[in-house]
Amino acid sequence: MSSISKLFSSIQLRDLTIRNRLFVSPMCQYSSEDGAPNEWHRVHLGTRASGGAGLVMTEATAVEPRGRISPWDLGIWDDSQIDGFRAVADFIHSQGAAAAIQLAHAGRKASTAQPWNGGKLLGESDGGWQPVGPSDLPYDENLAVPRRLNVAEIDALVKEWRAAAERSLVAGFDVVELHFAHGYLAHEFLSPISNDREDEYGGSAENRARFPLQIAKAVREVWPDHLPLFARISATEYVEGGWDLNDSIRFSGWLKDAGVDLIDTSSGGNSPAQTLTPFTGYQVPFAEEIRKQAGIATGAVGMITEAQQAEQILQSGQADAIFVGRELLRNPYWPLHAAAELGDRLDYWPDQYLRAAVYPGD
Ligand SMILES: Cc1cc2nc3c(=O)[nH]c(=O)nc-3n(C[C@H](O)[C@H](O)[C@H](O)COP(=O)(O)O)c2cc1C
Repeated sequence: MSSISKLFSSIQLRDLTIRNRLFVSPMCQYSSEDGAPNEWHRVHLGTRASGGAGLVMTEATAVEPRGRISPWDLGIWDDSQIDGFRAVADFIHSQGAAAAIQLAHAGRKASTAQPWNGGKLLGESDGGWQPVGPSDLPYDENLAVPRRLNVAEIDALVKEWRAAAERSLVAGFDVVELHFAHGYLAHEFLSPISNDREDEYGGSAENRARFPLQIAKAVREVWPDHLPLFARISATEYVEGGWDLNDSIRFSGWLKDAGVDLIDTSSGGNSPAQTLTPFTGYQVPFAEEIRKQAGIATGAVGMITEAQQAEQILQSGQADAIFVGRELLRNPYWPLHAAAELGDRLDYWPDQYLRAAVYPGD
């Protein structure tokens, strides 16, 4: 195969070579029972792998039951869940893509219904639980007042993240992504909006970053040197006095020192007061700044829906990879079509679909 575009050229991170730079962004499916992947997850993630993406990432996968956004989220807090993930990773590999898992804890935004059932806070009688956070500050009046974690519980959570990474390795994933964005637990510690602690986990930027950095270091201890580690962050909160791009640049440098290889650059999600109207490629400048100023690889994400747009982001050095979410829900085969549009003749149309293959010039 001769590849001319940057989007469809391979990328090497540590010893992992990924066939192209178009990655499936993590997307909750709210379709699991007790955390385990099922037919839905195998078909959903598998289809995106046969659709030509370079890397396919699971949805936010909880490191403990309390860390689920909803009772139907994926989770990898118990060894019994490993086999279901292995089936997902094996099929992704069979299609030539890299398999990634996003490890997560929803913190104060946990225990909610599926979005199509209103997404409201679930009480214990409806299968919900008491969410936890760095402080007892709620996200808004509709979500829970979280219970403040004590230091022993924070220590235990770091161990849960590490154990979840160990299980992810056994399941066969190539990449772990730490979900430190969107107002979930790690982001709640980072931000002065959600963290009013007065101990070593609150106050200064260093103290607020302590918990996520402990997670990154603990995971890196068990995640092999030859495999890459990603972190997704919210580059800004779009709130006066909140976490901002400069904080993110500094934090990304610390993550790099802790062994993180790529920053998946998202934004927002920690405050209903955020001022943002998303537009095409709105988060790309954050990926660019972090890449340049922290000297770490970045992924750009958010309303990237055109092949030329993705190619331009890579060509201009704004990011090293492109994460695509909703466009891949609309069309899992979008990468195969994007390649044809960019003039690349890929050799990974599935054999079963070759009679329908679309190549450049067709
Ligand atoms: C249905 C859905 C579920 C999502 N779940 C997650 C998630 O589990 N973890 C995460 O980091 N982002 C999640 N996101 C955000 C996406 O990964 C992505 O960053 C966002 O949709 C913007 O990219 P897009 O414009 O290409 O969709 C979700 C988005 C959607 C639409």
